[in-house]
Amino acid sequence: MKNPVMAGRKGFGIAFKFTVTISALIILMSFSFGYFISKRQINSIMAEFQDRAETLITTLAYNCEFGVLSANEDILDKAVRAIEEQKGLEYVLIYDTDHNILAHGHSAGGGMDDNHEGIWGRHGLDTVNELVIFSTALTSKRSVIFTGKVSDSGISVYDISMPVKTVKTAEGPEALLGIPTAPQEAVEEVIGVARIGLSLTGVDELIKGTINSTLLITLALMLAGIVITIFLVRLILKPIRELALGTNKVAEGDVSYRVAITTGDEIGALASSFNNMTESLAKAKKLVDERTGELERTNTSLLKTNYELEKITKELKAAQAQLIQSSKMTAIGQLGAGVAHELNNPIGGILGYSQFMLTKIDKPEFSSEDFKTCRKYLEHIERESGRCKTIVENLLTFSRKSDIIEDIDIVKVIESTLTIIGHQMQLKNIKIEKDFGEGLANTSGVANKLQQVFTNMMLNAQHAMPDGGTLYLRARNLNGSDRAAKIAIEIEDTGMGISEENLERIFEPFFTTKQDWKGTGLGLAITYQIIESMKGKIDVKSAVGKGTKFTITLPAIS
Ligand SMILES: Nc1ncnc2c1ncn2[C@@H]1O[C@H](COP(=O)(O)OP(=O)(O)OP(=O)(O)O)[C@@H](O)[C@H]1O
Ligand SMILES: [Mg+2]
Repeated sequence: MKNPVMAGRKGFGIAFKFTVTISALIILMSFSFGYFISKRQINSIMAEFQDRAETLITTLAYNCEFGVLSANEDILDKAVRAIEEQKGLEYVLIYDTDHNILAHGHSAGGGMDDNHEGIWGRHGLDTVNELVIFSTALTSKRSVIFTGKVSDSGISVYDISMPVKTVKTAEGPEALLGIPTAPQEAVEEVIGVARIGLSLTGVDELIKGTINSTLLITLALMLAGIVITIFLVRLILKPIRELALGTNKVAEGDVSYRVAITTGDEIGALASSFNNMTESLAKAKKLVDERTGELERTNTSLLKTNYELEKITKELKAAQAQLIQSSKMTAIGQLGAGVAHELNNPIGGILGYSQFMLTKIDKPEFSSEDFKTCRKYLEHIERESGRCKTIVENLLTFSRKSDIIEDIDIVKVIESTLTIIGHQMQLKNIKIEKDFGEGLANTSGVANKLQQVFTNMMLNAQHAMPDGGTLYLRARNLNGSDRAAKIAIEIEDTGMGISEENLERIFEPFFTTKQDWKGTGLGLAITYQIIESMKGKIDVKSAVGKGTKFTITLPAIS
């Protein structure tokens, strides 16, 4: 099964790294320790062996002195026999200074040829080397060691030789003559060489045994060390693993998880902090859950309120559209008489010309002159019918509900408003003064609505001048250039004006000074709203008894 703590992690874990590092250290230390121990033991074995060899050769060389000096074979044989039984002794040789073998012996006992070849052939030794060893031993002061020769039985030999010395006193001729002399200085003289070969087999076996047992101990130590390391690492890492498992559980959302570590060490302290942390987390989570629940409830009620608000806004918009339309209808109602007059004139003309023509046609003779007159009348009729058509069209356009946003030629809208309202003004003795600047820019919006604005304002002006006056209609680009950023439109009358008190309220819905329900008070409120929807502005200046000037500013389109 996959370790949940290691899940999603790459590389080796701490346990592995620890175990490998400490094991490597243990292996290194064990081997170094084993090496030094065995080295010391081997050295001491060798030193002991060499001491023994040294003692043996010294004893032999000392015991041979008299035998060699007197060339007495019996004495020499005795000396040889005395050490022949020594353990590991392979051979014993005693030479005189001329390299003659005076006595010899060997471990196996039995006969041994007295010549060099016989002896060395038996031991597989090299006669040339033998001579070198002999000469070296003869001239050296101490023992000479030569190791490594291999006998025919395949064993290594520790070969050690020592000069056999005697002490002589130098005596002058007085001594020979029996004349007493002063004691003379003693002189050492080499009279032969003693040599032994000690088998290294025992030593080798001892060394081998030492190495083996050291190696065994080293391996056992190493194994024990590694096992203890693994055990310890597991023991140390167990609480850390538990902590990591706990962290994972908390990360997965289980804030109720607690780690069961009760040790009094740093890990125990860490576990207790962890448990404190999860406890705080659980509390915080509970709080968050509660708040989330509250928020969700609030959100639901807000959504509901929002839905209701949207519904109300929709209804309000519909009501507002309805209001605009009904205000427009009121305006049309106010136009009624004027429009009738407006239409009456051309229709009257049409009637008159038609009657004239009928009398001409009814006459028995129809001269070419009559034809010309009739044609003139027909042209009049055509022109007057055209005027009627324009008036009716304008009226229809005005009354229609429209939302089409288009480029608007402001002068055209003012003129079409005048076709409906102009005649009415004339009847009320109102002069109309127009001043439209050259290259006036267009604006953007619903033409029909702008016409509603002008109609209301002109009607208001007309109502303000019951005894006649002048209506000024002006329009100009604000910066005077063709590509004006704004267009200013002024509608000014010479009427009664508005008192300061009323001036603040004229844009309020249902504010009117017109008695007997002649006005609804919606005209300017709707005007304000339409101008605002076209991103424009409306200003008013008025002086009681002198007149009122409305200025509309609209954005121009290039
Ligand atoms: N040019 C003006 N001169 C003097 N008073 C004005 C002028 N224009 C508006 N007013 C005043 O502002 C009031 C509000 O005008 P508004 O157009 O909003 O309503 P109304 O004309 O009274 O009614 P409605 O336009 O619905 O027929 C008017 O009753 C009038 O007192
Ligand atoms: Mg009005």
